[in-house]
Amino acid sequence: MKLTANTIPAFLLLAGFASALTVRQDSTSHLLQPRRTKSLLISPAAQPALPTIQEATAAAAAAGLNLDNIQGDILIGMKKNQELFYFFSIADAAAFKPKLASDILPLITTTTQLLQVSTQPTTMLNIAFSATGLSALGITDSLGDADFAGGQFAALTALGDPGSTNWVPQFAGTNIHGVMLFASDTVANIDAAVASVESALGSSITKLYTLAGAVRPGSEAGHEPFGFLDGISNPAVEGFIATPLPGQAPVAAGTILLGESGDTGTRPAWAQDGSFLAFRQLSQLVPEFNKFLTDNPIVMDGLTPQQGSDLLGARMMGRWKSGAPVDLSPVFDDPVLGADPTRNNNFTFEHDGVNLATNQTFCPFAAHIRKTRPRADLGTPEDAIHHIIRAGIPYGPEVSDQEAASNTTTTERGLAFVAYQSNLANGFQFLQQIWANKPNFVHTGEGYDPIVGADAGAPRVVTGLDPTNSTKSLTLPIDFIVSRGGEYFFAPSLSAINTTLSV
Ligand code: HEM
Repeated sequence: MKLTANTIPAFLLLAGFASALTVRQDSTSHLLQPRRTKSLLISPAAQPALPTIQEATAAAAAAGLNLDNIQGDILIGMKKNQELFYFFSIADAAAFKPKLASDILPLITTTTQLLQVSTQPTTMLNIAFSATGLSALGITDSLGDADFAGGQFAALTALGDPGSTNWVPQFAGTNIHGVMLFASDTVANIDAAVASVESALGSSITKLYTLAGAVRPGSEAGHEPFGFLDGISNPAVEGFIATPLPGQAPVAAGTILLGESGDTGTRPAWAQDGSFLAFRQLSQLVPEFNKFLTDNPIVMDGLTPQQGSDLLGARMMGRWKSGAPVDLSPVFDDPVLGADPTRNNNFTFEHDGVNLATNQTFCPFAAHIRKTRPRADLGTPEDAIHHIIRAGIPYGPEVSDQEAASNTTTTERGLAFVAYQSNLANGFQFLQQIWANKPNFVHTGEGYDPIVGADAGAPRVVTGLDPTNSTKSLTLPIDFIVSRGGEYFFAPSLSAINTTLSV
């Protein structure tokens, strides 16, 4: 059934989904207000702003990209305020498919819709399916990605996880068929949207697990749970962003979207404009991380112990908590630099008169942002394929006084990590397995990515963290980030849902 303004189920209107529908409805549909007056997205000044609708439309036209057909979460990055990940299995495919077409598809938020407050829905909805989910829908086409087909559980050893002991039980296996992403500025909006969707889908799906993410409070908005500003460096996708910010990696649309220019995979035609969504629930041991920094300050003339601890944390990450890169501000934080998106990503790790291959005075080779994007380390121009769009959000409460005082996590918190790419073996899985987890990448002996690198739970050795002695090694006795597992999904285009997945 195709929805018209007259056939929109009343429960959807009540739940505030009306503005999602208006964009694809007739000219009288503006009567179905309320429209939004405030964005459902966050926009910390230091994160790159999204393109305006005019800029994105022009870029898309020039590149032949259809932003109305691409699910909204894929290109917008880490800008959600409140987000619920709703993992489900398909209990009755025959009942689910027509509801997917009639009740869910009209609510799927597109990229275009998110770019203007006036066209944003009250609650964003996106949907993605695992390989077993596509099978449950009767899809037999290969999407041309072995990692997606195998599922994340099969990759846990490759990803460095110490078995599945720490995995959320629902992720251990291949039972999850799909995930719905609900995002809004209030939990109440999300709850209402979930109730509507559950009511529409009835017993055709079974809820398996949910994870609620939220922006951190006050001035911590946009910062991940360790306290570092996140969402700064996502690539500029051709057809979405015409003019990359200084230092932002320009990538072909096909690096993120299947079937677009630059995607070298063999895909069925209907998969065009979809993207693989790698989801990971990454628990962060914040009090333990802070204790480690306190216990191991970098000792340098002119630094207090606190400043030495802050410097160690910044060198592990490659950025200060403000977002300022250590490559540009190597000893002290520079919040003005951190808050300036025209400068805070404008570096390559190269410096005049300094040997790129040996010098770690500015940024350690192993720093998280250098491991996951080595920039000039691998030569220039920078490689074009090992890029992802990061679109995650923190989850869990703030650290309590009692946790801080005891240096011990008692309530789980972390990052609901989301990465989009057209090829998992080039994207998330590559960055985790081949770069973060390899102690000899990019230089022999540099050690693990001290933030996300993993060796099956074993202590990790990192060198280069002390700017006064680059051969000195530091052993990280525990993982400060513990994988709780996840799954690989495919976020299809709206036309794929319409023509292929729902029939
Ligand atoms: C809880 C886990 C994680 C935390 C706390 C974390 C934190 C951060 C922070 C603070 C930044 C710098 C801000 C920015 O450039 O946007 C960053 C950048 C980045 N992270 Fe992570 N991250 C996590 C997991 C991961 C994982 C699992 C991957 C991939 C395997 C990854 C890949 C990247 C990439 C590609 C960048 C951008 C590098 C650049 O372009 O300079 N991160 N991360």
